[in-house]
Amino acid sequence: MVFPQTQRNGLKPLRVITDIPVLNGPSGAPESAPPPEEFAAFLRDVRRWIHRHPEPGFEERETSAFARDVLERHGLVVTGPLATTGLYADIRGAEDGPVLAYRADMDALPIQDAKSVEYASERPGFAHLCGHDAHTAVGIGVALILHRNRARLRGTARVLFQPDEEGAPGGAVDMIRDGALDGVQGIYAIHVDPTLPVGAYGVQEGAITSSTDRFSITVKAPGTGHSARPHETVDTVWVASQIIQALYQLIGRFSDARKASVLTICRFRAGDAYNVIPEQAEFGGTIRTTDPDERASIRSRVERMARELARLHGAEADIDLLRGAPAVRNDADLARRAASVIQSLYGAEAVLPIPLPSMGSEDFGHYLEKAPGLLVRAGTCSGPETAWPLHNARFDIDESALAPAAALMAHILCAHLDGEAA
Ligand code: NI
Repeated sequence: MVFPQTQRNGLKPLRVITDIPVLNGPSGAPESAPPPEEFAAFLRDVRRWIHRHPEPGFEERETSAFARDVLERHGLVVTGPLATTGLYADIRGAEDGPVLAYRADMDALPIQDAKSVEYASERPGFAHLCGHDAHTAVGIGVALILHRNRARLRGTARVLFQPDEEGAPGGAVDMIRDGALDGVQGIYAIHVDPTLPVGAYGVQEGAITSSTDRFSITVKAPGTGHSARPHETVDTVWVASQIIQALYQLIGRFSDARKASVLTICRFRAGDAYNVIPEQAEFGGTIRTTDPDERASIRSRVERMARELARLHGAEADIDLLRGAPAVRNDADLARRAASVIQSLYGAEAVLPIPLPSMGSEDFGHYLEKAPGLLVRAGTCSGPETAWPLHNARFDIDESALAPAAALMAHILCAHLDGEAA
């Protein structure tokens, strides 16, 4: 199937290419050459097509159909849809062996693209400002390389394309529910990183992102009151503010000072009039931490603190605690293996440690609760236009990062399947 949008745009990323990187042979093989120009141009076109057609979480219909079409044109067998718009392609090697997965996310953000490049978003109000277009292009690249080199794979590589990474709890949950991780013994992904230069890869064992749980607390007491006589009523705004102060103090008093956690309240909604004490006051925010035990303990403290403080002051608290993505905790062994592959391909200077975890979240953490895995940060910055932070309306990447990242991740999967990279 040819998509009319592709023709309308005059891009031809649906061409079939043959100049796909060949993976290094077993130990003793020469260092890899840079990916072929045709392959690099192809991934750039794929990325641009997706960049022009951003779709929000669980609505990635065109993106998903486009990825499927590209893969099928190159002879891959695609399974799906699953998780609404998700898919995966299994690349079976000539020899039996374990199943390893590579994950790409496909969703865009509901933000207007502020760039004036020719591949800017064509959909008002939506744009790929977290690099998931690049992730999907790299995922396609990984699949094409592994497919071309399938005769030398010892096992199966499964390349996943998932919806709704930005949602809570995230499309990874639906992918897992629909079997995308069945039989998988390890999983990899990249995230583009505008703070790292093109050609650099951030690799770190342990926590690199935080869990994120949203909460909403509504303090209720029957009947409104007069602002002149708060002593005659239960002042829900005051009770809510007491709870807020107590919650801010959880981090640092009840949480373990050696572990990173942050609680932030971002909304507060109460009455309308200047002289009426409202019946209810609602506030909410997020709890983020890199540690699973802290997560459980802060969550239960938030609940207890809100309920008991409300009761102490004669009110009631309705508490809604939504469970988002867990922290991404990279497997130490996979991180070491990946660092050694990066070094052998691109030199020791291409591996950068990540000194501190991000307090942001990534739904890749859901997969890591089921299998060991590794999220690599891929540098995409080469100047002011590619230095804008993730989720900024002008975010963009240096596309020369795409093909080397795809070649790298294909090498890492292949080496892991070989068990030779340690
Ligand atoms: Ni992202």
